[in-house]
Amino acid sequence: MVIKSPSDITPSETTSESIYRQRRRFLQQSAALLGSALLPTTPLAAAPRSPYSTDEPLTPLKSITSYNNFYEFGTQKGDPSLRASALETEPWSVSIDGEVAKPTRFTLEDLLNPFSMEERNYRHRCVEGWSMVIPWLGFPLAALIKRVRPTSRAKYVAFTSLYDADRPLPGQQRRLLKWPYQEALRIDEATHPLTLLATGLYGDPLPNQNGAPLRLVVPWKYGFKSIKSIVRITLTEQRPKTTWNEMSDDYGFYANVTREHPEFKWSFNRERRIGELQKRDTLPFNGYAEQVAQLYPNGDPDLNLRRAHRR
Ligand code: MTE
Repeated sequence: MVIKSPSDITPSETTSESIYRQRRRFLQQSAALLGSALLPTTPLAAAPRSPYSTDEPLTPLKSITSYNNFYEFGTQKGDPSLRASALETEPWSVSIDGEVAKPTRFTLEDLLNPFSMEERNYRHRCVEGWSMVIPWLGFPLAALIKRVRPTSRAKYVAFTSLYDADRPLPGQQRRLLKWPYQEALRIDEATHPLTLLATGLYGDPLPNQNGAPLRLVVPWKYGFKSIKSIVRITLTEQRPKTTWNEMSDDYGFYANVTREHPEFKWSFNRERRIGELQKRDTLPFNGYAEQVAQLYPNGDPDLNLRRAHRR
């Protein structure tokens, strides 16, 4: 991710987005009449909206699906939407292994229990200085981790994106990054109720460019932690290596959205919400401080690590 000022993306409503909004209105009205327990769980737009959702205006679908970072398809913001049809998402499975009592290979169908789907409208902030508000569909990662029963040695959760050395995706044919893309969280972060495995957005399955069929969403961290198209999840005792952090210390392992970080290249007090002209203040923990600040009682862990290394 090289910092560039985001090009203007004009908000434009698409058919699918307006259908989504109609469905939502219909469901809200039905819920008021019937009580939400009677609502059908399909289509996906019927998923109940989580209380963790922000009320801020949603970024238009067109912008969410055409202004992307997905280096497997190239480094330009438009590359993923142009090229992501090369991503084959069926069949798909996710292996969970490492420090767990029940290592399991889940097919996508095993994971997509419609009864556990929620809609979460989250702020999404990239280190490059732009942000969006995205109506994700998904379920808490904690629910999946519980199913495989972590051992007492499990301290971290590592994630791996799709990579087949024999059939590399367009961006993987160059060494833009060390493939496969890898990310990781501390186990208390991974099992925090805000941490989501997303399978859709705007009421429909995830578009390929947004990380189909399954991606991580950690809304209080910079976007690069939210790894796309996950094929493997490994619980570990030692802190795993992660793609951007290996490239430079400036991409901290924790990468919590912070306002004050003079020591880091990638810290900003301001951000550009895609579709808006004026910049706005970046909020501590991207606006989720109330929910997550207690995970970091000793202050920002990236800054503490950096200072410790210097000693
Ligand atoms: N995951 C993979 N596998 N490859 C990537 O290049 N880019 C990251 C993250 N997850 C990336 C990835 C970055 S830098 C950001 S900001 C977000 O995805 C972008 O998500 P979006 O395109 O859905 O907005």
